[in-house]
Parts: sequence; structure tokens; C-alpha cells
Amino acid sequence: MGRIVFGMILALILAPLALLAWFHWGNVPVAVADPPLPMEKQITHVALDARVARELPGNPPIQADQDNLTAGAEVYRDQCSACHGFYGKPSSFGAHMYPGAPGLWVKHKNSDVVGVSDDPPGETYWKVANGIRLTGMPSFKVTLTDTQMWQVSLLLANADKPLPPAALAIIRGEQTAAPPAPPVVQKP
Ligand code: HEC
Repeated sequence: MGRIVFGMILALILAPLALLAWFHWGNVPVAVADPPLPMEKQITHVALDARVARELPGNPPIQADQDNLTAGAEVYRDQCSACHGFYGKPSSFGAHMYPGAPGLWVKHKNSDVVGVSDDPPGETYWKVANGIRLTGMPSFKVTLTDTQMWQVSLLLANADKPLPPAALAIIRGEQTAAPPAPPVVQKP
């Protein structure tokens, strides 16, 4: 009995020491190009999916009409396209992040799903508002309004459907952002 208890205490001390030694001298994957740890994606996504499911917002407070989809496309072009790419034009660095930023206008293999069109808009809204920790996905609840976050979420939920031509031109990257307002010159 005494030896078992002694063994358990030793294991409790050695396990964190081994972990520290691995962090210090081991080849812990810290580079984007390093291979993933076993089951890394599955483990992190279980936690994310559970949290989103618990806090899933209800129905969008706005309609997926032409005005909202086009406004969503403008938000997408200005805030999201750098990482997630335009329609038919992948981001130059999105795939070289860890985890990679998925192409949100790319059709899934062997299905009609485009990007996150299979997720309810509320799920995308949660991810846009809160971001995804330890990935490059930012939280936009400070920089975008609630309406803008719903507009871009509705746009992505409709990525597998025909979109208004104005919205399509924007997500194809054919329409660049409006030129910035000229600087205000302060008179001395
Ligand atoms: C700086 C890069 C970056 C920007 C800018 C960015 N994202 Fe992301 N996004 C990511 C990364 C990386 C992931 C992958 C996270 C993961 O694997 O858990 C991601 C994940 C997502 C997901 C989940 C995808 C899935 O398959 O479940 C959605 C939806 C999303 N982003 C939407 C947006 C929207 C909308 C915007 C703009 C308002 C945006 N992102 C801006 C990097 C970015």
C-alpha cells in the first residue's frame, strides 16, 4: 500500500516536470509549418462547438435582402477578405496561418456547401463577434456594429445561393473600397 501511494506521489511530481522539460528542451510545435499534435483539431473544436451551441444567438434581427447582403459584402471586403479570400481569389496568406483561415467562398468537396453556408447565421455571428482564441480569427464586436456583424453572417449563410449582382461584384474583389476621405487640414 505504502509503495503504491509513494508511486502515485512520484508520478504526480514527475508528470509536470516532464511537461516542463518537454517545453524547454523538446521540439514543441510552435511554428506554423510544424505538424499538428495528435487530435489537436478535434480537441479544440469540441470546446468551441460546445461553447457556440450554449450561446447560439436566435434568429437574425434583419432580413437577408439585397441591401443587407450588399452591406455584408462591403464588410466582408474590408474586414475579412485579407484572410478568407475573395470569390475565386484565395487569400495569399490565409492558408499559411495555423490554423489556416478557411476559404469562405470555396465549395466543399463532394457537396454543395460553400464556406460556412451549412452553419446557421447565429453560429457565424457568434464567431465574428467573439473571435476564436489562439487562432488568427479576431473578435469584431468592438470594431463592427451589431447590424454589420449580422449582415456579414447572413451573407456567408447565403454563400451557396445566387446573390444580388452588387454583392457579387464586391465579393469577387471587383469593387475596391471607397477612397479614404481627404485629411482634414488644421489651419494654424
Ligand atoms: C487575420 C485573419 C482573419 C480575419 C481578418 C478574419 N478571420 Fe475569420 N478566421 C480566421 C482563422 C485563422 C480562422 C480559423 C479558426 C479555426 O480553425 O478555429 C477563422 C475562422 C472563421 C470562421 C469559422 C470557419 C469554420 O469553418 O467554422 C468564420 C465563420 C469566420 N472566420 C468569419 C470571418 C469574418 C466574417 C471575418 C470578417 C468580419 C473574418 N472571419 C475575419 C482568420 C481571420
